[in-house]
Amino acid sequence: MNPITAESITMSDLQIISVSLGNRSYDIEAGSENLEHIGSFLTAFKPISAAVILTDENIVQQGYAHRVAESIAETGIDVHLLSIASGEQSKSIETTATLWETLLEEGIDRKSVLISVGGGVIGDLGGFVAATYARGIRFFQVPTTLLAQVDSSVGGKVGINLPNAKNMVGAFLQPLGVLIDTKILQTLPETQYQSGLGEVVKYGASLDAGLFQLLETNTEKINIRDPNILKQIVTDCCRIKANIVAEDEFETTGRRVLLNYGHTFAHAFEIQSNFTLLHGLAVSIGSICAAKLAVRMGFVNEIFLKRQIGLQQALGLPTEIPEGIDWLQTIELMRHDKKSEFGKLCFVLPTGIGSCRLVDNIDSQLLEHGL
Ligand code: NAD
Ligand code: GLY
Repeated sequence: MNPITAESITMSDLQIISVSLGNRSYDIEAGSENLEHIGSFLTAFKPISAAVILTDENIVQQGYAHRVAESIAETGIDVHLLSIASGEQSKSIETTATLWETLLEEGIDRKSVLISVGGGVIGDLGGFVAATYARGIRFFQVPTTLLAQVDSSVGGKVGINLPNAKNMVGAFLQPLGVLIDTKILQTLPETQYQSGLGEVVKYGASLDAGLFQLLETNTEKINIRDPNILKQIVTDCCRIKANIVAEDEFETTGRRVLLNYGHTFAHAFEIQSNFTLLHGLAVSIGSICAAKLAVRMGFVNEIFLKRQIGLQQALGLPTEIPEGIDWLQTIELMRHDKKSEFGKLCFVLPTGIGSCRLVDNIDSQLLEHGL
């Protein structure tokens, strides 16, 4: 892994991480109890004819959406609050069409900004609506789950699902900015928190040895959601992702694909569970499978595997394939993964703590008898 290079400065207890993409560059502000900064953050992008907040029912219930709305209204911007049902089923063609119609009825124009306040579902859906309504309006992210704070809100991948194909319709739309308040993670349900931790461990194990060590030495604080350690972890993950996205925004050079350690296995597990297995938990199990394959291929030794399993267990993350997952079906599904070609399997495999490479052309026979 290259050394971390994303520009980052400390403003009191706030971290600002710049995502360097020429005229699509933007800042990520990470802090704790900084949700009300949204108004002043947006002011830099005036003139703004209206701010449309897209959120879900849980975020409204926790009071976060109204806090964001009030902060923006105080700057004199006209605010529209749209709340939808929470959950993956909202990332649909039907919800998208309803939102397009609502924006039209509410007079939203190209000088407006759509602000997603929620988890990855609201971020992906809001970004897709912003990318398509009126041939594109501006977009801002306020991620409220750990998974969205460390991964989905950064990098510009937005989209919705088709009935039988997840994330099949989408676009790249970089936001104007990302505002992260780690304090609001306190109300996240435990399984959702763990799902985010699955992605955090992924960053450390495959891309950043320093982050991996930080996680190993702070498992107790992480488990009680200590705000300071959370801010440090979220900042590190955003910086890692910002660097990779800056190098390979559209996933064409082989760099951005390295964010997918454990994901080939994970997607096959998620499909078989009918998406009841949360993404980050599937990534946890999938990355242990990838680590075992890497041991078999001689890229890492057993010590690597033991350290990753030890860290995941200390964080309460799964390491074993759950009941109901069929191994041969897993292999068959992986043959159809986006990265695979001509039926050969393709994986991001670790080469040490904090480093990895893409390995293609793996014969499925290597996996047929399990790992
Ligand atoms: P989610 O958006 O469904 O949120 C999980 C649940 O937590 C929801 O019920 C939500 O209402 C609730 N919630 C959110 N914040 C809360 C808070 N602070 N307190 C209490 N409850 C809260 O799930 P997610 O894991 O954030 O996102 C999953 C989605 O992200 C998937 O659709 C996936 O495809 C997408 N994703 C996108 C990218 C990308 O690069 N664009 C990357 C990874 C995942
Ligand atoms: N979540 C992987 C990516 O953004 O590329």
